[in-house]
Amino acid sequence: MCGIVGYIGDRVALPILLNGLKRLEYRGYDSAGVAILEDLPLVFKKKGKVAELEKHIGNQKLTGSIGIGHTRWATHGEPNDVNAHPHASMNGKFVIIHNGIIENYARLRERLEARGVTFKSQTDTEVLANLIEYIYEKGQVDAELAVRLALSKVIGAYGLVVMCVGEPDKLIAARKGSPLVIGVGNEEYFIASDATPIVEYTKSVIYLNDGDVAVIKKDQLVLKTMKNDSQSPVIQELSIDIGEIDKGGYDHFMLKEIFEQPRSIQDTFRGRVRSENNEIHLGGLYEVMPRLIESKRIIIIACGTSWHAGLVGEYLFEDFARVNVEVEYASEFRYRNPIINKDDVVIAISQSGETADTLAAIRLAKENGALVLGICNVVGSSIPRETHAGVYTHAGPEIGVASTKAFTCQVTVLAMMAISIGRSKGLIDDTNYRKLIQEFNQIPEKIGEILSQSGHIKQIADKYKNSTNSLYLGRGYLFPVALEGALKLKEISYIHAEGYPAAEMKHGPIALIDQNMPVVVVATKDSSYEKIVSNIQEVKARNGQVIAVVTKGDTIIRQMADYVFEIPETETVFTPLLSVIPLQLFSYYIAVMRGCNVDQPRNLAKSVTVE
Ligand code: G6P
Repeated sequence: MCGIVGYIGDRVALPILLNGLKRLEYRGYDSAGVAILEDLPLVFKKKGKVAELEKHIGNQKLTGSIGIGHTRWATHGEPNDVNAHPHASMNGKFVIIHNGIIENYARLRERLEARGVTFKSQTDTEVLANLIEYIYEKGQVDAELAVRLALSKVIGAYGLVVMCVGEPDKLIAARKGSPLVIGVGNEEYFIASDATPIVEYTKSVIYLNDGDVAVIKKDQLVLKTMKNDSQSPVIQELSIDIGEIDKGGYDHFMLKEIFEQPRSIQDTFRGRVRSENNEIHLGGLYEVMPRLIESKRIIIIACGTSWHAGLVGEYLFEDFARVNVEVEYASEFRYRNPIINKDDVVIAISQSGETADTLAAIRLAKENGALVLGICNVVGSSIPRETHAGVYTHAGPEIGVASTKAFTCQVTVLAMMAISIGRSKGLIDDTNYRKLIQEFNQIPEKIGEILSQSGHIKQIADKYKNSTNSLYLGRGYLFPVALEGALKLKEISYIHAEGYPAAEMKHGPIALIDQNMPVVVVATKDSSYEKIVSNIQEVKARNGQVIAVVTKGDTIIRQMADYVFEIPETETVFTPLLSVIPLQLFSYYIAVMRGCNVDQPRNLAKSVTVE
């Protein structure tokens, strides 16, 4: 949520910052701003997208080689020019950008106001800027100490970068709860809230830990804790390529990411699902496998699309590993009084690895002695670092705000986990194990086959682009797919959509059905096929419009439904991986036809680092 970028070196900072902000726009896009340190800091900020900021800067020549920039997703104060970052302190000695929330900002502001400090915005960030300046001036201390002292008074989360006019050779960065990455160049450093703005300049990065403060000069980086203890920076190599964060010829990141799924699933398989010796091998779980086998209960925690993947996980673990599973919204779990036992296994699923509620739920589970595992996509993010063990999804960078390839890769990892636990428990015999692995290996190709039908899906999308409501139904493994299909549609096209277990339709949603109500039914051939056929009849009897996702060659539903999308036949346990693809495309095309901003839907952010 919100994007941070900073530069210090010999190059002109502005283009690096603007380029970085565009790459970060998926994190927040209410407003954007930059500050360049010349003799004084020159601050430009504007409500709206980075393009608005560029227009605002116009042709002004800004040649400074130290700068910071920010894209905002508003928490405190409405999105407008004044509330946009960077924020300067009252006397202009500090300029800062900040992600996260200062929870005690109102009290700090009151105290500063009582001492004559004035404010221009409603943001918590300006409070921080003024607090730093106040301590710097009154305490006669240097900028670094002023930052550390100010942060010791702050309750909340932050990833921030501070520029000080009196010490123009450095930037100061600090992290608690909001990620920051420093790119190490040749006599230059890049700072960002994730690696996407850095990767085109350098692949050597340092991930800050919670409580780190970095003082960055163009030729020197000093890393300390908040208490001033020295830290040794650990330089890691980024594994992403610049091509992965470009649209690669597609109109939108979302479309590119939908089409990347055969490859991203293969990348998630790589070295793990071995067709040559028919085995699944998850290196990240090797040491904890004995505990996983013995565990009597698995609790899955996640938010949004990742929670839907978790729900598929429930079916998978129950089927293959015969273990009790509970799937929890992280935000509910952490604020309840959940019963967590020492022999429970908690699995946290998160694309970004930074979702604040999921992180807090992990901490709670750890405090209670559970084994906590992560399924994450962003390497080096907070969740993999805070969990005992885990499995990366290897989907590659997901930039479109609506999650697509991360979902299918999460389900892929969950299926690998469930099958390997079941196998280790002796619950899957040789023949079945071999059959599952063979079929698993076919999934990328089968997704490719569905993607080649995108033109047909587009035609159907055209018929429903003006709907105002829709219902998504599925049973068993396909119920979470119905939820995910509905979420995709509402996120990017703003059409109200509800996902429901098909049999529950009779207990409420059926009242909504009339000739204007499209009902998307995910109805591939499985053990509840006949039941879902009856549900379709119930919709048709009330003149509803049925769009069905069916198994290739289905003739029964084809006769009843208004439109069908066919998907190749597969094992029931893998149907979520195939059936979600037409629903992603359907939402995408409808959103494009309605003129919506697909990659950056209103009010949403890719990574939700506030609670
Ligand atoms: C936001 C995103 C969703 C995502 C959810 C959970 O709401 O817009 O696409 O599913 O956060 O994010 P995570 O990174 O934890 O999977």
